[in-house]
Amino acid sequence: MIYEKNSFLNKIISDMSGSSIENPRLDTKIIISHALGCQIDKILLDTHLEISDKQINEINKYVNRRVNGEPVSRIIGKREFWDLEFKINEATLDPRHDTETLIDTILNLVDRKEKISILDLGTGSGCILLSLLSEYKQADGFGLDISFEAISVAFFNAKKLGLTHRAHFFVGDWFSAITSQFDVIVSNPPYIESNYFNKLQPEVRKYDPKESLYGGIDGLDNYRMIIPMAKKKLIKGGYLVLEIGFNQKNSVQELLLSSGFDKITCYNDLSGNFRCISASN
Ligand SMILES: C[S@@+](CC[C@H](N)C(=O)[O-])C[C@H]1O[C@@H](n2cnc3c(N)ncnc32)[C@H](O)[C@@H]1O
Repeated sequence: MIYEKNSFLNKIISDMSGSSIENPRLDTKIIISHALGCQIDKILLDTHLEISDKQINEINKYVNRRVNGEPVSRIIGKREFWDLEFKINEATLDPRHDTETLIDTILNLVDRKEKISILDLGTGSGCILLSLLSEYKQADGFGLDISFEAISVAFFNAKKLGLTHRAHFFVGDWFSAITSQFDVIVSNPPYIESNYFNKLQPEVRKYDPKESLYGGIDGLDNYRMIIPMAKKKLIKGGYLVLEIGFNQKNSVQELLLSSGFDKITCYNDLSGNFRCISASN
């Protein structure tokens, strides 16, 4: 059937009102373009939309899921990060824009033209590693994750972005599968502490895998494992770049110092929270 676009959109937006959805208009456009298999621009430009009964059913199901608190990225199974599109699923963290601070940090530390090797620990969807490889055209990248399912998603994303010749993925427990040394080691490890876990937004607690969030009683378990090993697996002069929680700057800085790292620097995300810490070997 042919629908007049604005009244169709407004009907869905009003179905979403009353729930705590921040931007129902945007979510509506994303959901419709996903159901119709078209670009969002088409929804913006066209005055009328041709939608089959099957697509209407799909749209209704998606809207229902959204109203029940499922993030729109989970519904459509993808997320934009560093202007690239990444498939996500129940095995992967939904990449956060704040994590782009790690990419900015590395771009400030290492010239784009360098032929570097990069190790991304806890690669998830591969968003950090593949974004870096899209910037460092000469680099080779290695992504590791404990979840086989996450590694399958990262490989899918590498293929879609045409990066499989430079992106290599492994299943492993932090450094267990790693034998060589790297110029850059980057990681966004699970770092949520026990006390804070139950205070996470329901969208996060319910839909992101717990294994990608929980960092032990004080949130620092994974830094304690990663930092001393990274010291051995970085070449001299290489960089370790870590995402951190807003209150973890001092503790992670101490762990870096006690492992012998140098030139430790912290960086804020766009909301002004400490988000990233870099250290030189
Ligand atoms: C916070 S998520 C980060 C995912 C992705 N890098 C991102 O920034 O969106 C942490 C990742 O670490 C992985 N992970 C947790 N424990 C691990 C371990 N012991 N060894 C390797 N990876 C692990 C999780 O499966 C998850 O994919």
